[in-house]
Amino acid sequence: MNREEILKSDHALLWHPYTAMGAWPERTDTLVVREAKGAWLVDADGKRYLDGNSSWWTMTLGHRHPRLLRAAREQLEKLDHVAFAGITHEPGVRLAEELIAIAPPGLSRVFYIDNGSTAVELALKMAIEFHRRVGDGKRTEFLTFEGAFHGDTAGATSLGGVESFIAAYASITFPCRRLPSPSDEEAALAALEVELRTRGPQVAGVFVEPMLQGAAGMKMQSAAFLARVRELTQAHRVLLIADEVFAGYGRTGRFWACEHASVTPDILCTGKAFAQFIPMGAVLTTSEVFAPFATAGAAPLPYGHTFNGNPFGAALAREVLAIYRDEAIVERVARDAELFGACARNLSNIPGVLRTRHLGFVVAADLEDASGTEGYGATIGWRVFDEAKARGLYLRPLGNTVYACPPLVTERADLQTLFEGLEESVRAALRR
Ligand SMILES: Cc1ncc(COP(=O)(O)O)c(C=O)c1O
Repeated sequence: MNREEILKSDHALLWHPYTAMGAWPERTDTLVVREAKGAWLVDADGKRYLDGNSSWWTMTLGHRHPRLLRAAREQLEKLDHVAFAGITHEPGVRLAEELIAIAPPGLSRVFYIDNGSTAVELALKMAIEFHRRVGDGKRTEFLTFEGAFHGDTAGATSLGGVESFIAAYASITFPCRRLPSPSDEEAALAALEVELRTRGPQVAGVFVEPMLQGAAGMKMQSAAFLARVRELTQAHRVLLIADEVFAGYGRTGRFWACEHASVTPDILCTGKAFAQFIPMGAVLTTSEVFAPFATAGAAPLPYGHTFNGNPFGAALAREVLAIYRDEAIVERVARDAELFGACARNLSNIPGVLRTRHLGFVVAADLEDASGTEGYGATIGWRVFDEAKARGLYLRPLGNTVYACPPLVTERADLQTLFEGLEESVRAALRR
């Protein structure tokens, strides 16, 4: 099919995620991707675009990494899919060994899951059921932070702190206590202390996106903030649940974002980069949380999806970890992170740029919008998107926040191209 045929059929039949479908058919510049390699996407006309958001924060190893393609083929020659309830297999077991070996110390149990949202959904149920089984069933509330994003299933939506994603679903979500944004660390910690002091015995868990809140607009926190959240939760016997779905796998300059603060959460959720192009993730927990599920006669945790522990995904996830080791991916992030810092400094000198920030392989800038709007209602980010696209960069914005979080394997020369293009696009969009 050529570009026009694909678009015609798409407009007639499809409904895209987070896409205003009323405006969609009018957008004549829709990206029709034909293939991808490394950090680059290629459209139906052969034009290349640098994948500036790693295809929704996922492809840390770039597209079509040869070792992943080989691992996929080899696994499919042996075992494609089998249920994981009462059945096990080598890729699943080996992957668990390898994950535990690199997990924050104390995490010793792995539950495979399908994606980030269901990792969070599972963490919610694990936490509730853990407290009930240890005789603390009145702990039923969860604390989250302003700006939080933990996924789009109903439970994960309930934990969310981005109003435009949750407002429509008030009738099918449960209430959570929302603390101030971690970008004001003092206020967030003060509120957490008050909540735990006054309602501690009712609180089951605190969900945090460690170091980096993605959907909030790439908002960053200090390691000291995370360390303090750990101290407070521990003191009140409240579970700390770290959502590393985006921040994990080297994005922030450490394999796990929790490592910045030497923190071990009680439950850790991972996904996205986990198996790169296969939807798969894992929930890791401690022997303490696991214990009440493993006593003689204990009923199973009533939770599971069809594809949990899929051997194909597990084989890919193992190869992902092997590539991280062999290509020293996290060290590479630590080395090249300074380029993101330089980009942030350059952006901050552009009139109309309100603030910038960077961490690991993420750089972000909040831009002044003509309407005075900040957040998802702003249109300035989309003007940057159009400018960047014309320059061969794919840079989907978050409202008035523009950002880049390219694959962690992006060559230094390509990073330069990305940052120069981003700076030019911001200048051009703010001039318009
Ligand atoms: C921190 C965080 N948690 C959970 C999710 C949900 O992951 P998924 O889209 O794989 O369901 C996301 C997605 O962006 C995320 O950023």
